[in-house]
Amino acid sequence: MKAFLTAFAAIVVAVFPAQARKEKKFVEASVIEIATGNTQLLLQVDSRGEVRTVHYGAPVGDPAQFTDYDAGAYHAPDAYSATGGRFFGQEALHVLYADGTHNTELYYVSHETESRQDIVTTTVHLKDFFTALEVDLVYDAYQKENVILSHSVIRNTGKKEVKLLNFASSSLTLKADDYLLTHFHGDWATEMQMERELLTHGTKVIESRRGVKNTHVQNPSFVLSLAPHYSETDGPTIAGALAWSGNYRISFDIDRGDRLNIVAGINPFASAYPLGAGKSFTTPEMIYTWSADGAGGASRNLHRWARKYAMWNGGLVNPTLLNSWEGAYFDFKTPTILGMIDDAAAMGLELFVLDDGWFGMDYPRNSDAAGLGDWEPNTNKIPEGIDYVASYAHSKGIKFGIWIEPEMANPASNLAKKHPEWIVQSPGREIYQDRNQWILDLSNPAVQDFVYDAIDRTVSLSPGIDYVKWDCNRAVMSFGSPYLGEEQDRFFVEYTQGLYNVCRRMREKYPKLIVQCCSAGGARVDYGALRWFNEFWTSDNTDAISRTRIQWGTSLIFPACAMGSHVSTVPNHQTGNITPLKFRFDIASAGRLGMELQPKTLSGEERALASRCIESYKGYRDLVFGGDLYRLASPYDGDYYALMYVSEDKRRAVVFCYCLRQVNRSVGTKTFRLQGLDPALSYKVTEQNVDESCWWGNGKAFTGAFLSEGGFNPALLGSNSSAVFVLEAL
Ligand code: DGJ
Repeated sequence: MKAFLTAFAAIVVAVFPAQARKEKKFVEASVIEIATGNTQLLLQVDSRGEVRTVHYGAPVGDPAQFTDYDAGAYHAPDAYSATGGRFFGQEALHVLYADGTHNTELYYVSHETESRQDIVTTTVHLKDFFTALEVDLVYDAYQKENVILSHSVIRNTGKKEVKLLNFASSSLTLKADDYLLTHFHGDWATEMQMERELLTHGTKVIESRRGVKNTHVQNPSFVLSLAPHYSETDGPTIAGALAWSGNYRISFDIDRGDRLNIVAGINPFASAYPLGAGKSFTTPEMIYTWSADGAGGASRNLHRWARKYAMWNGGLVNPTLLNSWEGAYFDFKTPTILGMIDDAAAMGLELFVLDDGWFGMDYPRNSDAAGLGDWEPNTNKIPEGIDYVASYAHSKGIKFGIWIEPEMANPASNLAKKHPEWIVQSPGREIYQDRNQWILDLSNPAVQDFVYDAIDRTVSLSPGIDYVKWDCNRAVMSFGSPYLGEEQDRFFVEYTQGLYNVCRRMREKYPKLIVQCCSAGGARVDYGALRWFNEFWTSDNTDAISRTRIQWGTSLIFPACAMGSHVSTVPNHQTGNITPLKFRFDIASAGRLGMELQPKTLSGEERALASRCIESYKGYRDLVFGGDLYRLASPYDGDYYALMYVSEDKRRAVVFCYCLRQVNRSVGTKTFRLQGLDPALSYKVTEQNVDESCWWGNGKAFTGAFLSEGGFNPALLGSNSSAVFVLEAL
């Protein structure tokens, strides 16, 4: 009998381990509230300790109303769904344990809330009592901006290493009748093109596996209308963005209960990430906002939050500039540069940026085939040195900036010859080139030191360097890290962590430096990078016509103050299109204005117009940098494009309007309904940069109500005509 009981006890322990039976306890059902000024995210904790998202949207009052909420017949995803248990849907967490098992069941342990200034942080502690794996769900609720950041911390409190096969930042479950997804795809020179689809049952994924340069093809962000139609102005709308510059994955799954579950985080592709005993992994932030005022409301929330919290020196105005790239490419010497500086200063620009081509002695950078990695100035091109040209710019009253692409090496460089082990590669295989270059392995701390040092040495070339353009022109192919040896699964995650380490060190030493995030245009436009950068280069496509769609798409997620936007020559180098100079200025002035051409090619009349546009931009750019954006007419939907920025106090605004295609000569005017104005205030309307206005009401005052209700109808005559109006309350 005793032997039988012992055997029985052994079976019971094997099937229900003591740890599991001892610690797993029933809890009192409750609701955790994560609230901002105008939104509420509610997590229901049921009596089994399962935690689920039961509401995200407008406040519903007492959260306890959801305590007994019954989600319906089918098991709804957990607030952080894990592979295992009773759940069949898409997972946020998938852990492979040392014994070969894949199941994780997370239960509520406790939660706490802490406030600092405008941010309320709620941390929900979950645990798998069987494997001792713990997860903290962390929500930062930005009260005024109505933005909620969500990430997880995964802790292996067991005794053996586990592998994280999926380790998302967040899992959000919504219930609506319709889910209309707007997301952004593109390529080099066509970034952030909006695409829209009504989600149906099954899974829709937006992702990148490119390692770096991740946002060219898809951007890790979206707008979700909880309605069958998209609206800029009305209806419950959610915007989301992942703050991660590496491989990402955002999946949208409508389950058989018609719920939408959004799982967002680092892409687990080739990244079975090892988590040793006692170690934890912190996932990047997933950013969410909800608005009842359509996509316009959601993007204004994101912009306000981004300016204040999410970008380096987000509140500051960055200078107008002349960039040397399209005006000189690799073909310059000191006189070319000094001439451009003279012209930039004369036109009223505030910064000159010396782009690619200034470095490399043994392997001079005279084309994209050589020199990357050898960050010493080319004294054949600029014998007087970088300090000389930087000081010259300062002597003309403008700032000086310089280009660098520190993560890369051309095979034709001293660096590649000296440190072949620093190149991303798979042993024994061909190391593929893209734009004639290889990529350095930032998962290696020695490479991080080199990259940091390259930036530090470059900035130290002159005390007059005020701005750096950090470029990154290729993605990872045939990946591998000699440094990581047999632990290649760490490569993609640790590359991005290595990149952020370098950024952190750069910012510790150079907090005031203005640094542009460029990646062959807009291939690193994400909130992970923006934390360290003042702005991004939106696209290499400087054609004003192409820019309408790129900038509109970008503006859904990112604020205009971050959006580098340049006037270039015609025919445009990327498209061959020819547009009027004023149209080009009026498009570029809706972001951080710059020029990118050889000013010597401009006629006297064109220079005068350029000076005039730059001068007027300086008068209203505080609105572009800090105002609320209202998108009025979409270049995706029709022949007109219009947008406006309004000051917080609603006393000033700037309106940009464009005719993209005139289809009928008898249609003389276009009525735009302005938004964001105070209906009762009277605004004086002044068109910029023209002697004769295209609007009959120019120079007069009108109420906000009049301007919003159909009285504002400038005559935009001809394709590629445009007008900019400043509105000032009397
Ligand atoms: C790609 C960038 O996007 C361009 O603006 C320019 O800096 C080139 N690289 C230089 O190689």
